[in-house]
Amino acid sequence: MKIELTGKTAIVTGSSAGLGWGSAVALAAAGATVVLTGRYGEKLQAARDRILQAVPGASVRSHVADLTTAAGCSSLVEAEPSCDILVNSLAKNWTPKNFFDTPDEEWDTSFQASVMPGVRCTRGYLRQMMDRGWGRVLFLSSVEAVIATPDSLDYAFTRAAVLSLSRGLAKIAGDSGVTVNAVLIGVTMTEGTETVLRAMLPSPDTDLYTFGATAVKQRYPTSVDGRVHTVEEVTNLVVYLCSEFSSATTGSTYRADGGILESLV
Ligand SMILES: NC(=O)c1ccc[n+]([C@@H]2O[C@H](COP(=O)([O-])OP(=O)(O)OC[C@H]3O[C@@H](n4cnc5c(N)ncnc54)[C@H](OP(=O)(O)O)[C@@H]3O)[C@@H](O)[C@H]2O)c1
Repeated sequence: MKIELTGKTAIVTGSSAGLGWGSAVALAAAGATVVLTGRYGEKLQAARDRILQAVPGASVRSHVADLTTAAGCSSLVEAEPSCDILVNSLAKNWTPKNFFDTPDEEWDTSFQASVMPGVRCTRGYLRQMMDRGWGRVLFLSSVEAVIATPDSLDYAFTRAAVLSLSRGLAKIAGDSGVTVNAVLIGVTMTEGTETVLRAMLPSPDTDLYTFGATAVKQRYPTSVDGRVHTVEEVTNLVVYLCSEFSSATTGSTYRADGGILESLV
């Protein structure tokens, strides 16, 4: 199976780093023109340079905007009016919090940063995809959507929200040729995860992946492979779900979680 996305434009929200960037580089490697988004010009330029290093000759554009605002999303749709593949990756960082000490403002911020960018960007691009008869919309979510660990409920509820959003949008897209899906992700070695794990390392020479495995098993005892995944392991699934080959898959939630979730389907 050779995935070929030449001629497609892929927009990835929150793609200056992490799984957004990883998705962008993987889509670029499959031939797509990719559009990176983020709040900071210099960071985006560095992200673009890193893609060009990994995929020489890739077609990469970038758009600086704060997609957690309506104005930021409008500016993206105005600057990049055409989109075949939309990967909604942007979400506010996971940070542990005590439920009783989390004020209303934090819930609002989480909702604006982690749910509304997906609503607004999909609203901006879905109709044109349907009119053209082809498109892919993907939401990156987390096992926390289902597990809802009590230390991060303001994150978990946003990850659950994008699952119902994804399912409903798939129904709107119907048989138009546009698919809408979501991916439930476990613990992945992004820059953010690396920072969190490094802060917990018992000694500086402890191997990060070995320590990560211990942390995964502690937080998620049901994990089948009990380890941290690489960005590429997750983005392989992202690229497949954005490709021609996944045409029978819509309204679904796929997993790249190492088996953390126990349910059979
Ligand atoms: N990493 C994991 O282990 C993991 C696990 C489960 C699910 N996920 C999911 O994967 C997706 C990406 O997560 P990630 O860990 O790769 O993300 P990340 O590294 O924390 O962030 C990547 C991007 O998000 C943007 N961003 C972060 N906080 C923001 C804020 N408050 N406002 C606006 N932009 C913000 C950053 O853009 P700027 O340049 O503007 O800062 C950056 O481009 C999310 O949907 C997340 O729920 C990740």
